[in-house]
Amino acid sequence: MAILVTGGLGYIGSHTAVELMRAGKEIVVLDNLYNCKKSSYSRIKALTGRDFPFYECDIRDRKGLEEIFAKEKIDCVIHFAGLKAVGESVQKPLEYFDNNVNGTLVLLDVMKRCGCKKIVFSSSATVYGVENKSPLTEDMKVGGVTNPYGRTKYMIECILQDLYKSDNEWSICLLRYFNPIGAHKSGTMGEDPNGLPNNLMPYITQVAIGKLDHLNVYGNDYDTPDGTGVRDYIHVVDLALGHVKAVEKAADESGLFIYNLGTGKGYSVLDVVNAFEKASGVKIKYEICPRRAGDLDTCYSDPSKARRELGWQAERGIVEMCEDSWRWQSNNPNGYPD
Ligand code: NAD
Ligand code: WQD
Repeated sequence: MAILVTGGLGYIGSHTAVELMRAGKEIVVLDNLYNCKKSSYSRIKALTGRDFPFYECDIRDRKGLEEIFAKEKIDCVIHFAGLKAVGESVQKPLEYFDNNVNGTLVLLDVMKRCGCKKIVFSSSATVYGVENKSPLTEDMKVGGVTNPYGRTKYMIECILQDLYKSDNEWSICLLRYFNPIGAHKSGTMGEDPNGLPNNLMPYITQVAIGKLDHLNVYGNDYDTPDGTGVRDYIHVVDLALGHVKAVEKAADESGLFIYNLGTGKGYSVLDVVNAFEKASGVKIKYEICPRRAGDLDTCYSDPSKARRELGWQAERGIVEMCEDSWRWQSNNPNGYPD
């Protein structure tokens, strides 16, 4: 039996594919290549020394999905496929609802028809919205989100909860990620954004390599120790290992499970800049700019539920996250080859 990894050539999906195979699992990967390069497939195979089926397919393509389920013995899905840029989602809400929500509905319907009732879903800390105070716990009220991207995650969480209520043979794991950064130790896999990065770490690494002149620090008047925004950065390999634990949980018991995947520690933008400089030996030029619309001052997790129930906790610290991001960027200045 195999695990279908949707969006499995993307940033988090590719690292998870590696850790799943290292844990001895069989995988099948699906991706429409919208936000990744096909060469990520060869890198995963080279790293693990294992071959596995890859399908270029869109999750909204019902016929394509049915063919994969008919051909492969899939008993669980890890569902990463989705669009994820907050700013773009404000400009293109219909595309985000169609891709993320409609795509998930098609996927769930095909799963149900094929008798596959185990899914691990990539949710986000963004569902906690603006009202809750950190450290964020899974029992807090969710949904006060401020942008279409976040709303798609919240809507999909609601759909999955309703699905479980309708049929409790399902095993559904909602994983709320905090801020994934870092890269595989080998320096052969990492985050490869298209165009100008939206997120802090790829922006810093592109300044370090000389592609961008300086970092814009969005605000230094937040209610935080140094005035810059505080986030819970988590190494992508720790995040990937959380998925290995989550599929094992889903295989063992039916239920609806929700876990934060974070470290529980908050670092400011300037803390990350300092850690990166220490890890890379490269000075990062930055300018303080006005706040970015929609940003919170502080957001970090209480990750203790995942530790108690999954036996998982993040092991890699902020300097290691920076070292690994830098190794990836400096070895691959232009990201994955075409
Ligand atoms: P990513 O863009 O690198 O990976 C997503 C992959 O899904 C891409 O390879 C893309 O080509 C593919 N894809 C998109 N739409 C598809 C479709 N309709 N059919 C098939 N494939 C499709 O993003 P990532 O950072 O690896 O994120 C993975 C998941 O985790 C996403 O759902 C994202 O919303 C969620 N998430 C990411 C973060 C983060 O900061 N990176 C935080 C919280 C949650
Ligand atoms: C981190 C901090 C910025 C860029 C986003 C999504 C969230 C989740 C993860 C998917 C903030 C500051 C950033 C820059 C800066 N994704 N910053 N200069 O906003 O916490 O979360 O990604 O689910 O939904 O909203 O992450 O990396 O963009 O920002 O000063 O060029 O860095 O203001 O304080 P964020 P980020």
